[in-house]
Amino acid sequence: MVLVNHPDHFQHVLVDAHANYDKDNFLYRAVQTVFRGGLVSNPGGERWRARRRMMQPSFNRGSIVDLSPGMTDLTGRLLDRWAARDDPDAVVDVSADIRDLALKIALRSLFGVEAGADVAAFERNFLELNTIIGNFFRFPFPPLSRRPRLRALIQDMDGFVDRLVTDREADPAERRDLFSALLAMTHHTSGVNLTRQELLGEILSTIVSGYETSSNSMAWVFYRLARHPEIQRRVQEEVDRVLDGRAPTLESLSELTYTRMVIDETLRLHTPAWQTMRRAIADDEIGGYRIPQGSSVYLNFLTYHRHPEFWPDPDRFDPERFAPENAAKRPRNVYQPFGSGPRYCIGKYFALTEMQIVVAMLAQTFTLTVPPGQRPVGFAPLVTLHPKGGIRLRLARR
Ligand code: HEM
Repeated sequence: MVLVNHPDHFQHVLVDAHANYDKDNFLYRAVQTVFRGGLVSNPGGERWRARRRMMQPSFNRGSIVDLSPGMTDLTGRLLDRWAARDDPDAVVDVSADIRDLALKIALRSLFGVEAGADVAAFERNFLELNTIIGNFFRFPFPPLSRRPRLRALIQDMDGFVDRLVTDREADPAERRDLFSALLAMTHHTSGVNLTRQELLGEILSTIVSGYETSSNSMAWVFYRLARHPEIQRRVQEEVDRVLDGRAPTLESLSELTYTRMVIDETLRLHTPAWQTMRRAIADDEIGGYRIPQGSSVYLNFLTYHRHPEFWPDPDRFDPERFAPENAAKRPRNVYQPFGSGPRYCIGKYFALTEMQIVVAMLAQTFTLTVPPGQRPVGFAPLVTLHPKGGIRLRLARR
């Protein structure tokens, strides 16, 4: 396995020579056990391109405009629930509540469904599965095919997705949303022609990528705000000035520049999609080193985003790094929490919009503090990067 960690080499593998690097490798074969050919783990080539083409319009800026009111509505409900707690001094497991919020947002925004009672089991199942596969990367025995628990979890989650599909198929109303685009991929005419099993994998892949990474990022933003009261105060001042008590709209988000800097810096230090891998289809050369055909090339965004050549004092949390004048001094590609090249994150604008809405509404309503004596929260490196033991904070009504 070859680990690359320099911007020129990331650029080579993900962008300039992308056609020579696919996802048919150890990491994504494990993920394929769950998502099958779903977009995230799809090996690449024409079959990937046809799927991406079908799904892309639902993630373009125009589509996100329609989705943002649903995001503010669901966020408002969580904040109301927090505000109505019996004991306002109680410590809240914000990571669990935010995970639940992000899943509800993904289900409503991308599939037009309101989360029912079965979402809690879905979240639990995926957390267990994420742990099994995360551990498998470090110790790949026994093989995933010989793990009955994994099969049972996938079957359960498939059952959840199957119910969504059956309900949608029984609904005569014609819609033009992501769910319709996914269902259309089962048609012969789509150029994709998925089987039912493949469709379930694609939907599962979309739901999971739609809530897993953004929920962890938001939990980390909350943690950072609580740990840096002066930064939290600046965010609160900004949202008070720009929003003046109103709910954020897509237009107002572009004025929340400091809030965005805090999110960007959190995504640098706590990049949730923290690792990826490619396979060299043919012999290649990177930075003067020979890369034989079939090599696995490993890219770790967590170490990449702390490269001391580009990030002075790299472990320090400092949103000022993303002030326009400071960002202009760095090569653009040293920062890429959403990846780059043709396989960059399809949900980038969705996630950034959601994060800004949730963080802004939180800052309007609460001041976060770390409970006294709490030790710094470490990383749980599952398939995605989780806060170890969750993030527990105090929330005081402003
Ligand atoms: C903070 C939130 C998110 C982060 C940091 C993130 C990060 C990433 C990264 C780094 C990749 C590229 C991986 C690679 O090149 O190997 C990726 C791909 C992908 N992401 Fe995200 N993501 C986020 C949110 C989302 C959301 C909300 C969705 C919505 C469904 C999503 C769906 C996907 C999909 C489907 C791909 C695969 C795209 C393809 O291969 O064509 N992500 N993401």
